[in-house]
Amino acid sequence: MGCSYKKTALLVGATGLVGSILLEQMLADDYYQEVIVLTRKPISLQHIKLSQHIIDFENLEAYAHLIKANDVYCCLGTTIRKAKTKEQFYQVDFVYPTEIAKIAKFNGASHFSIVTAMGACKSSTFYYNRVKGEVEEAIEHLQFKSTHIIRPSLLLGERSEFRLGEEIGKVIAKGLEFMMVGGLKKYRPIEAKAVAVAMYQLGKDACKLQGGFKIFESSFLQTIYDEERFAQFATSQAS
Ligand SMILES: NC(=O)c1ccc[n+]([C@@H]2O[C@H](COP(=O)([O-])OP(=O)(O)OC[C@H]3O[C@@H](n4cnc5c(N)ncnc54)[C@H](OP(=O)(O)O)[C@@H]3O)[C@@H](O)[C@H]2O)c1
Repeated sequence: MGCSYKKTALLVGATGLVGSILLEQMLADDYYQEVIVLTRKPISLQHIKLSQHIIDFENLEAYAHLIKANDVYCCLGTTIRKAKTKEQFYQVDFVYPTEIAKIAKFNGASHFSIVTAMGACKSSTFYYNRVKGEVEEAIEHLQFKSTHIIRPSLLLGERSEFRLGEEIGKVIAKGLEFMMVGGLKKYRPIEAKAVAVAMYQLGKDACKLQGGFKIFESSFLQTIYDEERFAQFATSQAS
């Protein structure tokens, strides 16, 4: 099965900042012949390639027949403040992605791509980073033909809700931007669009990248996005 074979994709987290842009990307070209989206609330978008289903994420086994695609993209996530408890945060950031990955693997998926976060580490003293590290490890154990771990730094983009922690982070990062060079470049905030574009591009290239478990840090995601923009610019100039 080559890279040009028309495949199906499954996307969870399509209503979020990164996921919504990723969905736009997936619908805009013909790499996937069908994009299956599982959400907990309806999305207004309609497209010939889009199959959307509203599901109860607490009962994923009941939707196993829908968790079936060649490639799976996971942009699920919450914050402890939004989830209200650490347990509920863990459900969204660990349990749902892992359950979806297990079912998808059982149903024959070969590629799994998930957004975690810069600093993800299962032995971290920070709960957020620890859960992100644990989910990475759980997905790694499932041994998809290819697994992509997407680790952005602070995300930039328009949100409908106000997140104080993120806003403070953005101000601090802006003030320190001049210092974020060389090895510190990875701490630069990154546009959600850059993450989504890079995640999609890497997903499409997965079969050329020899498979396996790969971690992509924020500065690399930015490079992929910049290259993609340059390629589009060059094409537009040539035509
Ligand atoms: N924010 C940052 O600066 C930052 C930095 C690094 C990494 N990350 C990580 O990057 C990923 C994507 O971030 P994002 O900002 O794009 O996320 P987001 O905008 O908060 O979107 C999260 C997605 O998860 C879904 N979700 C949340 N709680 C759910 C629940 N209980 N049941 C079902 N679905 C649920 C949301 O659905 P609804 O629309 O229904 O709520 C939405 O589709 C997350 O894993 C996040 O932790 C974020």
